[in-house]
Amino acid sequence: MHKPLSAISLATGLLFSGLTFVSSAQAQALDAAGLQTIDAAINGVAAKMVSWRRDIHAHPELSGQEVRTAKLVADHLKRLGMEVQTHVGGTGVVGTLRGGLPGKVVALRADMDALPVPENTGLPFASKVKSTYLGKEVPVMHACGHDAHVAMLMGAAEALAGMKATLPGTIKFIFQPAEEGAPVEPDATGKVPSFGAKAMVEEGALKDVQAIYGLHITANLPSGVVGYRSGPLMAGSDSLKIVVEGRGGHGSSPWNAVDPVVAASQVVLGLQTVVSRQLNISQEPAVITIGSIQGGTRYNIIPDNVELLGTLRTFDEGMRQDALKRITTTAEAIAMSSGAKAKVVFGPVAYPVTTNPAELTAASLPALKLAVGGKAMIIPKVSGSEDFSEFQKVVPGFFYFLGAPPKGVEFSKAPSNHSPLFDIDEDQLPVGARTLAALAVDFLQRK
Ligand code: NI
Repeated sequence: MHKPLSAISLATGLLFSGLTFVSSAQAQALDAAGLQTIDAAINGVAAKMVSWRRDIHAHPELSGQEVRTAKLVADHLKRLGMEVQTHVGGTGVVGTLRGGLPGKVVALRADMDALPVPENTGLPFASKVKSTYLGKEVPVMHACGHDAHVAMLMGAAEALAGMKATLPGTIKFIFQPAEEGAPVEPDATGKVPSFGAKAMVEEGALKDVQAIYGLHITANLPSGVVGYRSGPLMAGSDSLKIVVEGRGGHGSSPWNAVDPVVAASQVVLGLQTVVSRQLNISQEPAVITIGSIQGGTRYNIIPDNVELLGTLRTFDEGMRQDALKRITTTAEAIAMSSGAKAKVVFGPVAYPVTTNPAELTAASLPALKLAVGGKAMIIPKVSGSEDFSEFQKVVPGFFYFLGAPPKGVEFSKAPSNHSPLFDIDEDQLPVGARTLAALAVDFLQRK
């Protein structure tokens, strides 16, 4: 998950949704005996997963800078005898495990990047790392749990490599950089070169792949519980910049100027009517937030222009495209009404909606529930976003959450993702690895 608004609000939703544990009565390709084999293999790497997670946690790397992490992953996959591609979409790594029997191709994905957040957990392996991001020195922390994602997928890879002879098909292990955002500044039109999942897709990471699975760890679900939903799960996210151009002058005589401060203020308010008056929110919810207003230098000077930065969150591709157009029209027309001009640019963040296709969700649930002993629940939509959606644009993909609040902390009170206090329960690493391995084997075995 990425960007300030993506700190997930599962806890709030859960208070209202209640816990709906569901049994796994449907027929599945993966049976109890198959799960036992996976379990034994995962238990064998449980301790390693903890040490990998701590090592990666102590050495976090920002989006696009995941050099050490990528090497750790690539070395591990090579030791397991896999074909390994490095530098896929930047620092991405893809390991290919060909099973002993012919069959389908399935992918499992983990994201590798950390965030510019000062770690305040007090953990013995807490990060002391500083790095440079977009020209500024920043502290770096695995505040979104991607360290756990990498450790879990490395564990699943080792377990599945041990079962290679009996696997009917191929499993691709996708370790993705830059999920949290663009590694470079956008150009004047708001564009940046492709990054993250999109860049990996463009460089062929999903070639021949028929389905992809991924998970996100969260402290805001009960321990060991998987949260999922069919259809839209996480919001599409578009960042936007609006420059309101006026004409500067003396604050005492605004009639001789075109005041971009007043025009920009009207634009901020006007944009709120896009969601409240223009979009059909009975279909899906949407959010527009302006998070930054910059303009002016002094109390009595009307500046030439004002810059607004914001984000749009949507859960339907049609509504997303509609909202993008309406934001532009609304801003331009409001500015024009006072003789100013609004230039609207979207990007560099432009993540589609993370949507779990109904068919793949229904087919995957029995194995997922089996892997967590039935501890699965339907969760509310999350207004945070994920570029796992870029993979889902190409092949059917299923994304879910795994609850791992720190021991002794109530999940609804645990510091959320992106907090300087974010932490997890490492006992859930084998649970996550087991779900990934189970979903992959189940997909390969399923008719
Ligand atoms: Ni995340």
